[in-house]
Amino acid sequence: MTSQKPPKATAPTRKTAQELRSWRWYGAKDLRAFGHRSRTAQMGYHRSDYAGKPVIAIINTWSDINPCHSHFKQRVEEVKRGIWQAGGFPVEMPAISLSEPFQKPTTMLYRNLLAMECEELLRSYPADGCVLMGGCDKTTPALVMGAISMDLPAIFMPAGPMLRGDYKGEYLGSGSDTWKYWAELRAGNIGEDDWQQVEDGIARSPGHCMTMGTASTMTSAVEVLGLTLPGAASIPAPDSRHAQMATLTGKRIVDMVWEDLKPSDVLTAGSFDNAVTAVLALGGSTNSIVHLIAMARRAGIALDLARFDALARKTPVLANLRPSGKYLMEDFFYAGGLRAFLTQLGDLMDFEQQTISGRTLGENVEGARIFNDDVIRPRSKPLVASDGLAVLTGNLAPAGAVIKPAAMEPQFRKHQGPAVVFRDYNDMAARIDSPDLEVTRDSVIVLQSAGPQGAPGMPEWGQLPIPQKLLKQGVRDMLRISDARMSGTSYGACVLHVTPESHVGGPLALVRDGDVIELDVAARSLNLKVSEAELERRKAAWKAPMPKFSRGYGVLYLKHIQQADTGCDFDFLAPDSAKSTAPGDPEIH
Ligand code: FES
Repeated sequence: MTSQKPPKATAPTRKTAQELRSWRWYGAKDLRAFGHRSRTAQMGYHRSDYAGKPVIAIINTWSDINPCHSHFKQRVEEVKRGIWQAGGFPVEMPAISLSEPFQKPTTMLYRNLLAMECEELLRSYPADGCVLMGGCDKTTPALVMGAISMDLPAIFMPAGPMLRGDYKGEYLGSGSDTWKYWAELRAGNIGEDDWQQVEDGIARSPGHCMTMGTASTMTSAVEVLGLTLPGAASIPAPDSRHAQMATLTGKRIVDMVWEDLKPSDVLTAGSFDNAVTAVLALGGSTNSIVHLIAMARRAGIALDLARFDALARKTPVLANLRPSGKYLMEDFFYAGGLRAFLTQLGDLMDFEQQTISGRTLGENVEGARIFNDDVIRPRSKPLVASDGLAVLTGNLAPAGAVIKPAAMEPQFRKHQGPAVVFRDYNDMAARIDSPDLEVTRDSVIVLQSAGPQGAPGMPEWGQLPIPQKLLKQGVRDMLRISDARMSGTSYGACVLHVTPESHVGGPLALVRDGDVIELDVAARSLNLKVSEAELERRKAAWKAPMPKFSRGYGVLYLKHIQQADTGCDFDFLAPDSAKSTAPGDPEIH
């Protein structure tokens, strides 16, 4: 792999104070600038606090209802400390906090809203650069998407994983062990007391989910893209080194402004290939496919499903982390973290890619060592030889679907069976545990109306529940298919992101009980064994469902949301319509 863009000069030219974007708010000798200065004085700042200094917007997604970011109230002070020390002027700007455990129907409905908020905050206020504080699942891609579109100097500060969960002397993993013990409870193998102990011990510190779920996957991907300080993504949230990283992040952004080091100087097709490769080797979340495609498209880079599949075929899974493996993010940090992990990928990576540290990715990982080679496996002893993710196509998913072969029972990699169809989530919830449900371990469970428009918001419903009567027979995995996403902490033979989705008339909408579905992961195929003529008949009889929203943000969402294979971004946020970078903004009068 070769560099797509030469690294930025090692001795960057530095801006002058008059060239700062914020100068037009503060430096001019006019009535508007008088207003900005007098109102800054009103907040208790003397002009020496900000005059001629980079104004750093800190986009903080702290909220009382986001446990993954509960330490951000403190961390933002540490970021500010770094900014002050480096000669900048910090301005904290709260933004919508997409709290994965609480927000309904799904945070994914609001990812693009946060991306827009981030972009518009940066556009409309006197920001010279920004620190993006996120980590809980969608906050990471959302903030990065907004920052890419605005293209001011930007540095991401990951929330960091929470500590390992604890239950009867065992380590619990976010999400993964919730599903595991929920299945055991439903099967009658554990009691309410045990379940209560799992509840008390599974999330016991600030920080995002500590399995290799979407949060850890996306913060790691953003570090590999070169948008964080080296090593930032792996530090557990409560660790004092996380606080130190926050301060260093604040210091670094000030220099980045003087150097005019922007996302467009760092993001290339090569850096996205690096991020995808790292995600695959980490056994990362399927959600990253949607997010990385959306982020790349914001940067004008044509990343698609085929590229994921091509890279998956040659990338081994080396991180022994749940849900694919055994350990948790805290173990990964102690084993050397992402920097050490990347050294194992060797020829699969392009280490010449530039990063916001001002150095290349290769320079960032220099000297990193692995302290536990069961957590970070050598290339000679991978967890899985290849295919951390696989992209499927066929008459059931003409524009693609995805599956995570590393996290499913191997016998389902080639499987065919009769469909048991649920027309939407409520239908599934009402009937899945019915003793009358005609289902066997060979059946294929199908959920419709769970995609970007259908649910709406493409929620993480894709790990469809196994019917209770099969659980009681000891069944723990079976083939399941939907146009939903799946939590990165989930596992199982779950085909996801079926595109086009059923709500817009994709073939998934045409499946009926008893139809035979065939999956062949090695052949990358997913097919409905029903004749073309019959499918045409069903298609002609299909009626488009009513839109789920009639007012508000939901209407905007339904009108502009795109399908999963192109990243579920809004059509009007494509780069051509996002060309308003800093200077000359119409807002400055
Ligand atoms: Fe926030 Fe999992 S709930 S990262």
